Amino acid sequence: MNILIVGSGGREHAIAASVAKSPKADKIYCAPGNAGIGQIAECVPIGAMEFEKIVAFAKEKEIDLTIVGMDDPLVGGLVDEMEAAGLRVFGPRKNAAILEGSKAFSKDLMKKYHIPTAAYENFDDPKKALAYLEQAKMPVVLKADGLALGKGVLICNTPAEAREGVRTIMEDKKFGAAGNRMVIEEFMTGREVSVLSFVDGKTIRIMSSAQDHKRALDGDQGLNTGGMGTFSPSPFYTEEVDAFCRKYIYQATVDAMAAEGRPFKGVIFFGLMLTPDGPRVLEYNARFGDPEAQVVLPRMKNDMIEVAEACIDGRLDQIDLQFEDNAAVCVVLASQGYPVSYEKGFAIDGLERFEEAEGYYCFHAGTKQDGERIVTNGGRVLGITAKGADLKEARANAYKAAEWVSFDNKYMRSDIGKAIDEMPARE
Ligand code: AMP
Ligand code: GLY
Repeated sequence: MNILIVGSGGREHAIAASVAKSPKADKIYCAPGNAGIGQIAECVPIGAMEFEKIVAFAKEKEIDLTIVGMDDPLVGGLVDEMEAAGLRVFGPRKNAAILEGSKAFSKDLMKKYHIPTAAYENFDDPKKALAYLEQAKMPVVLKADGLALGKGVLICNTPAEAREGVRTIMEDKKFGAAGNRMVIEEFMTGREVSVLSFVDGKTIRIMSSAQDHKRALDGDQGLNTGGMGTFSPSPFYTEEVDAFCRKYIYQATVDAMAAEGRPFKGVIFFGLMLTPDGPRVLEYNARFGDPEAQVVLPRMKNDMIEVAEACIDGRLDQIDLQFEDNAAVCVVLASQGYPVSYEKGFAIDGLERFEEAEGYYCFHAGTKQDGERIVTNGGRVLGITAKGADLKEARANAYKAAEWVSFDNKYMRSDIGKAIDEMPARE
């Protein structure tokens, strides 16, 4: 089969690596891809939002299956355009990707179908939002409605901060049109878990759990980033939590989308908060998480192409999704100064160490081929993933492998997955 992957980050590299293991894969293309993906796929210089070019390319190369990794093209309707051209695509249509594309939509859906989440109100008028804040309990959480690169969420401790936040989102439009509407919701405490799932419109199959470290500095300090590392499984995702989520969250979400005439096919990412009152949905995403995919997919035993096709054809009930009984840790190697400002263009050494190392992966995020060399080309440069019998071993392996690679201004957190059992829950 000819496969096309749309996207250019560590997530797409992990998807490509998973697809490359399938005996069904003949030729793999990636638009636009990156230097690491280029080692297992042919990268084509087409941007993820260039829908017409993607459709034309897929027809020309007789692509049998396209996998869309990123949120923007999904929310923008790439799947609809490809399907209209008779192409097979793994990912939700526009009317289902709204589950991620509009927080107001997803909150209303959860309320209507009694799916546990934080109490909230939606606003499209800043004056009403400001009036609501007069009696809101602090801290309070403000969310821009639309896609905002994971940055459209503000946690405000005082009414003054919250008022300022409303102005930032709705009047100054810091997150652009994403802030035309906003959600104000109750602040929840507890541990966060990411649960990815495959969905075929009716059936849902849950992948092994993961946890992301979003802050830039050790000890979960510093600014929010796209993710500085992940581990899988999460020791906090117990059987009890799993049973609760299966009963009240997962299938309920899939059924709710179908009942709304928006059947969801693709990956639903459940961002969960394990609160003292039980699990609650923090957010939905309509795609694999990044860097969650970098620890979850290497542990998946199934053939990625088979699972994706089962989702497209509504046969997911016939798939027995299986994960290795081990653990994985991913340490992100970033450019010093990320997420604010950083230099790029530095040569990366040591990448060849990963070619022969079983159970070790070097997923590229911000890299670029520069003649013979591969150079840094972004804030998050590489995701170094290693497996181990348990999290402790996986962590030791990941940090060992993180030393195999060198480039100027290399930065990483030193506590990804560290003493996981002792990590304090956020109060
Ligand atoms: P979201 O994009 O909705 O997942 O929000 C980004 C991050 O903000 C989450 O991963 C949480 O760390 C935090 N967050 C979002 N909503 C809440 C909430 N209601 N209570 C506490 N923290 C939240
Ligand atoms: N790691 C969080 C996300 O992919 O949205």
